[in-house]
Amino acid sequence: MSSLVVTSSRNPDAHWRTDAPAWAERLGTRAVPRRDRSLATLAADEQVGGVLVIARQQQPVYYEPARGVEYSFHPSMAKTRIHNLTVGRGDPMVTAMKLGPGDDVLDCTLGRGSDAIVASWIVGEAGQVVGTERVVVLAALAAHGLATYEIRPHDVAAAMRRIEVHRADYHDVLSESADGSFDVVYFDPIFAQPLEASPAMVPLRALADDQPVDVGALEQARRVARRAVVVKQRRGSNYWQGLPFAVEIVAGGNSRIEYGVIKPSSPAPG
Ligand SMILES: C[S@@+](CC[C@H](N)C(=O)[O-])C[C@H]1O[C@@H](n2cnc3c(N)ncnc32)[C@H](O)[C@@H]1O
Repeated sequence: MSSLVVTSSRNPDAHWRTDAPAWAERLGTRAVPRRDRSLATLAADEQVGGVLVIARQQQPVYYEPARGVEYSFHPSMAKTRIHNLTVGRGDPMVTAMKLGPGDDVLDCTLGRGSDAIVASWIVGEAGQVVGTERVVVLAALAAHGLATYEIRPHDVAAAMRRIEVHRADYHDVLSESADGSFDVVYFDPIFAQPLEASPAMVPLRALADDQPVDVGALEQARRVARRAVVVKQRRGSNYWQGLPFAVEIVAGGNSRIEYGVIKPSSPAPG
């Protein structure tokens, strides 16, 4: 039994015939006709937990009817954060990373790609943002959304298009990466205790891999980073206390989050 199937809206257009098999192959599953079935009925008939509904000109929507989960790609606060940067208000993540044009960033926890978009906008065409996401459906929706989501201004869209998405576990990507191959290695793990009033995070939390970042991954990240390993946490997190490295905490304004900045094991000269 596969865990999800691909289907269409109730009134599919002709593109369904070509788009559905492509999505099914991408997700390692099959495409089934919607007919007039509700998503709950379709999931029960097909004996799956999840249903990806594709429709032309819209981002696909992933549902898990039994859990009440509905998830689709959206750049979240990326556009607002980029606007803040253009008017000189700054961005705490960018500050923590000391990010600038031409930098290379490995975003280990891509999720919706919001942080990656901001990073990509800053590093520009001379830099590169690579994102890894372990959960198959999240990686596929992020890759598609970053490549196709229509947004203005043009430079935000261009920043989205430049992000390279890998469906992969960051442990594997880190262990395969050469020493000092990125300026910054970034982790934004699912917080053990969610922040209140963060509705955009609810479906992502339901689908995400929620393991904390282990010391082994941080060791690898310190080897791969030239400037810094940056980890996001709730403000006042006790996560830092268990780590065998010095951590500089960077907070943003009255934000409820903080960034831990850890030095690489072989910092770049100069
Ligand atoms: C809090 S979300 C990241 C949100 C992201 N920073 C954004 O701006 O949308 C954490 C993401 O990391 C992913 N993740 C967790 N462990 C992972 C691993 N070992 N390898 C790759 N991705 C992982 C989760 O599935 C989840 O999508």
